Parts: sequence; C-alpha cells; structure tokens
Amino acid sequence: MSHVLRETLELIPLHADRGISLERGEAVHLWDSNGRRYLDLMSNYGVNILGHRHPIVDAAILAQLARLTNAHQSFDTPARRDFLKALAALLPPSLNRISFANSGAEAIEAALKYARVASGRTAIVSMHRAYHGRTFGALAATADARYRDPYLPMPEGVRHIAYDDLEALEAALDATVAAVIVEPIQGEAGIRLPRPGYLEGVRRLCDAHQALLILDEIQTGFRTGAPFAFSEAGIVPDILCLSKGIANGLPMGVTVTTEAVSAKIPKGSHGSTFAGNPLVCAAGAATLRLLSDPSIHARARALGDSLQTRLRGLALPEVREVRGRGLMIGLELKRPATPVIRAMQEAGVLALPAGATIIRILPSLLLEEEHANLAVEVIARAITATR
Ligand SMILES: Cc1ncc(COP(=O)(O)O)c(C=O)c1O
Repeated sequence: MSHVLRETLELIPLHADRGISLERGEAVHLWDSNGRRYLDLMSNYGVNILGHRHPIVDAAILAQLARLTNAHQSFDTPARRDFLKALAALLPPSLNRISFANSGAEAIEAALKYARVASGRTAIVSMHRAYHGRTFGALAATADARYRDPYLPMPEGVRHIAYDDLEALEAALDATVAAVIVEPIQGEAGIRLPRPGYLEGVRRLCDAHQALLILDEIQTGFRTGAPFAFSEAGIVPDILCLSKGIANGLPMGVTVTTEAVSAKIPKGSHGSTFAGNPLVCAAGAATLRLLSDPSIHARARALGDSLQTRLRGLALPEVREVRGRGLMIGLELKRPATPVIRAMQEAGVLALPAGATIIRILPSLLLEEEHANLAVEVIARAITATR
C-alpha cells in the first residue's frame, strides 16, 4: 500500500464556517489574519470572561508553564490547592467536594453519574430546549433532536419536560428519579429566563421527592451579575457544573457537590488524565480571584441592563424580544438571525446565534460603555441593512 503524503488535513465539517481566521486577541478585541479588528461580543462562546490575554491570568499561566504543566490527580500539586481555595471562597459552605473535567460536557457526565450512584436511582429529569453538551450522557440530557438523532440510541433514563413549568416537574418526579438537571437561564436555547420563583420551586420539589438538583451553570456562571445565577434565587444545588469562563480560556470543567453525595461515589469509579492539571488550575485560580471582586459583577449587571434597555429602545419592528441578565443577552428577531450576525461581522462586531432567530451576546465582563454603544449601533444597522 502506498502512503500518500498530505500537506495537511481537512476538518470534519461539524461547524458553520465564519469565514475569517482569528490570529490575536486583546481584552474585548480580536484581530483576523488581514489585521482587521473586531469587537468581540461572544468571548469564544462565553469562555474569555475576562477578555483575551488578561495580564494577570497570563502571568499566572506563564509562571506555571515554567514549573509544571501536568500532575495527575493522584498527586497533590500547589496550583490545584490554590485553585480549590479560590473556588471555595465563592461557593456556599455545603458545596465542599469537587472533581475536575476538561470541558462542560464532561462536568455534566460526572454530575449524572454521581447523581445515579449517590441516589441509587436511575432516572434523570431534564428540560425541553436544554443544552448540556455533546458526550453521550450530556447529549441524552440535551433536548435538540438535531444533536441527538444522528447518534441514537441515547443512554436510557432521561425524561424531558417543559422548562419553567413546576406542574410538569411535579408530574415527572417519582421514586425512580435520581436528579433534575436544569440551566438557571437556558443559554443555547436563546437566553430563556424562567419566571421568578421557578428555581425555588424546582429546589422544593426535588427535596419533596428526594431527587438531587443538578444546576448547569456552565453558561450562566460568572456572567449574570453574580458568580452564580442560583444565588439570585436563594437556593443551593446538590451538584453544580461549571466550565467556560472558569479558567478564562483554558479548558476546564468542574463538578461541585456535597459531602453526602461525595461519600457515595466509589473510589476509582470516575476520572480523567488531564483534568485538574496545574496549568489550567493556575489559570483558574487567577481568574477566580479576579472574579471574587463583587464590583465586577455589579458592573456586569448594570452594563447588561443598560445594553438591554438601549436594544429595546431601538424599537425595530424586526425585534420580537430582548432578554437576559447581566452580560448574557438574547435579541430575538422575527426572522433568521444568521444574515444579521454576518452583517455585524462585516461591520466588525462578532456575536453568536442561538436557535434560528436569536442573536446571542456573551461578551467579556471587561466590556466598556463605549463598546456597548458601538454594539447597539452595529446591531441596529445590521438589522436594517438586511431588511
Ligand atoms: C449550559 C451548557 N452546558 C453544557 C455545555 C457544554 O460545554 P462544552 O461545550 O464545554 O462541552 C454548554 C456549552 O455551550 C452549555 O452552554
């Protein structure tokens, strides 16, 4: 058999091609290979919460790079200890056990496995329109048929019910339900906020049926005007999944839980080679220390509120609704969002779609008033130009 030498490989076409090559970033800006600057309203799907190349996070990464990049979790390492302290400072006291992952989906996988083993039950209740990731367990909890159908069959045991519907939840709960998994605000579904009181109701119903509550704060974490969206509802989950912004761009996910759940997880029953490595932990610790300043969250909330007010104030007939909390904003159009997002990109502003008709704004918390002004101006122009 002859070996054909190839210069490179082609990507499996899993993602829509945005047509530009990103080469450099700084704070809230990105530059493409032609040297063109973009205002970044997407922060790599919510990952670069403190912007690109944050000097303090970068210094922590570089310092760790010069020491040690990998140390399996069977070894102690100072960077991991430091990260655990930084995260503990943000969490309620009952959430005092953690395991590491390399992505959001993996943090969800762990949560689902822990819920089953800790409860001795197998069923999982998830929500319509939920997005929890693309690995098989996380995908089984994800609702969208587009992601699921090509890969059937899904792992068994997941029941999907309407989001923001406590009656539906009550009807779905029985003695077989290990856990209810829910996003405090549905992200990929198009920034859908439940009615006030919903999360409190979910907590109450979980308690009444001895089901564990898994909160997926992978997208809401650190961007709704508080470190976690659950604090606004005054509840605490049994299992909390975090990822995206937690290490400002380096791949990390965590599954945080209680001592009671942790005590039931058999030693050696779950793990990952790379997870919790010193390099990501150094980035995470630096990121979390910066995110422990309450003023950064107050600012995100205020700027998000004013951005929403200004977007609503445009009063464009094409806009169905503007909604969100903090710097997690969705602008729902009455027509497809992609042409508008393309026009925004051509005008130098990068945003994301969510569903077919929603423009999603997930910027870095470093966004300034002047950037928000430009964002509003460009969104308005892009909508009118694509009429
Ligand atoms: C709420 C939520 N859960 C889970 C995930 C999956 O995270 P990842 O893409 O890192 O696997 C995402 C990603 O967008 C998400 O928004």
